[in-house]
Order: sequence, then structure tokens, then C-alpha cells
Amino acid sequence: MRIAIMGAMVEEIEPILVRLDPALSPESELAHILQNMQNIRLHTIAGNRYFEARYKGHEIFVAYSKIGKVFASLTASVLIEHFKCEKLLFSGVAGAINEELKIGDLIAATKLCQHDLDITAFGHPYGYVPEGKVYVESDANLRRIAQEVAKEKGIALKEGIIATGDQFIADPARKEWIRKTFDADALEMEGAAVAVVCDAYDVPFFVLRSISDAADMDASFDFDAFLKSSSRISADFIISMLDRIVA
Ligand code: ADE
Repeated sequence: MRIAIMGAMVEEIEPILVRLDPALSPESELAHILQNMQNIRLHTIAGNRYFEARYKGHEIFVAYSKIGKVFASLTASVLIEHFKCEKLLFSGVAGAINEELKIGDLIAATKLCQHDLDITAFGHPYGYVPEGKVYVESDANLRRIAQEVAKEKGIALKEGIIATGDQFIADPARKEWIRKTFDADALEMEGAAVAVVCDAYDVPFFVLRSISDAADMDASFDFDAFLKSSSRISADFIISMLDRIVA
């Protein structure tokens, strides 16, 4: 099977690459990874790097898109159109909306929406454009696998609605607006874009996020402080899911 694993930032995918290539040491960063890759092949397409690894008899394609919906759509499209990936797993960090979510906690998206998509001037709801839909649902089978993995690891994996937009949210008022408009539990900057692309291609997808901040006044400080640790928590979980998918 050909499986895509993507993130938005290099910090979100480094821990995945390290797990796919035994030649890499646990804390390797991209420069070190590029020098020491043995199991991984590198492709460059449209300005992004795609890492191809053979893992337990399957082809795994790993990439980081860069931040935001446009770059995320491009990467998801290349993973599907060019590399013919049959499933896509997204790993990364998010800002918490739901107060039950604390830094380092995991949330799996049940469905995703674009909080910054607005043609309400024409009488449409927020997040909607004609021939689109406000919410795109993630794959039920991948969510079931995630819950099995969570049970095995003794982790409480929360499920909920993830809202995506091309804005870093560090503002309690904007966060509250997103919560009440979309009933969202967490927010980030790529998930719904990936969801729209996968849905259009009928490719099953899963979006996992570990909380890095609470999208409040402290968000930029917390994001910098917890990007790496939360990215690793999400990446470790995704690798466990991969192990179950390829078993
Ligand atoms: N990803 C992680 N934290 C975020 C925030 N506060 N806003 C947007 N994307 C994020």
C-alpha cells in the first residue's frame, strides 16, 4: 500500500522520518536526516521535499507542506496525484478551543471546516461555498484504528471538530467566535485544506493534532515552547497507527 504522512512544519515530520530510517538518531533534525538517510529516497516537486521510505513492505511518503491552506492543498494533491497515495495521515500541533484539551493532549478530527471562508454577503453560512460543504468528515475506519491504538497505549484520545484558517489565533475573542460558529474543539492552519483535497479524490484521511497552545494571549509563546514536544507526541501516535495499518 502507498501511505502518505504529512505535516505542515519540518518539526512535525522530523520525528516521523527518524522512525522510518534505522540509520537516523532519535533527535535528528532535517540537515542531519538529509546527510544520513539510508532507507529514505528524496524527491523534490514544486519546491517541496517528499521522503519515500519502504516500511514493513509498504511505500510511505512523508512531506511537510509549509504553513497554511494553500501549501497544504498543494502537498496533499502531489501525494495523491503524483505519488498515488491511497491513505493520508496528517500529524501536527493545534491550538485548543475546548477547555478539556491541555498542552500535549491529542485530538483526532471527526470533521473539519474552514473558519476563514466567508461569502456570507451572498446569504451563505460561514465556511461554505457553492458545491462545497461546511464540514468534511474524516475516514471512520482510520478513526477506529486510532481509538484501538489509544486503548493499547492507555491514552485518552479525544475526538472533535477542527477548524482551519490562514491565521495564527492568539485572541480569545476570535477563538470564541470560531467555537460558537463551528462548534470547534481545536484550530490550526491546514487540516481542512487536506480534508477537502482528500475528499475530492476519495482518499481516506485522518487528521491528528497535539495541543501546543490555547489560541489565547500566550499562544505565540506557548507555540514556540511546545511545538517540538507536541509534534513528537502526535508523530509517535501516527507511527503506532501506521504499524497497525500495515500489520
Ligand atoms: N496551530 C497551533 N496553534 C495554533 C494557533 N493558535 N492558531 C493557528 N494554528 C495553530
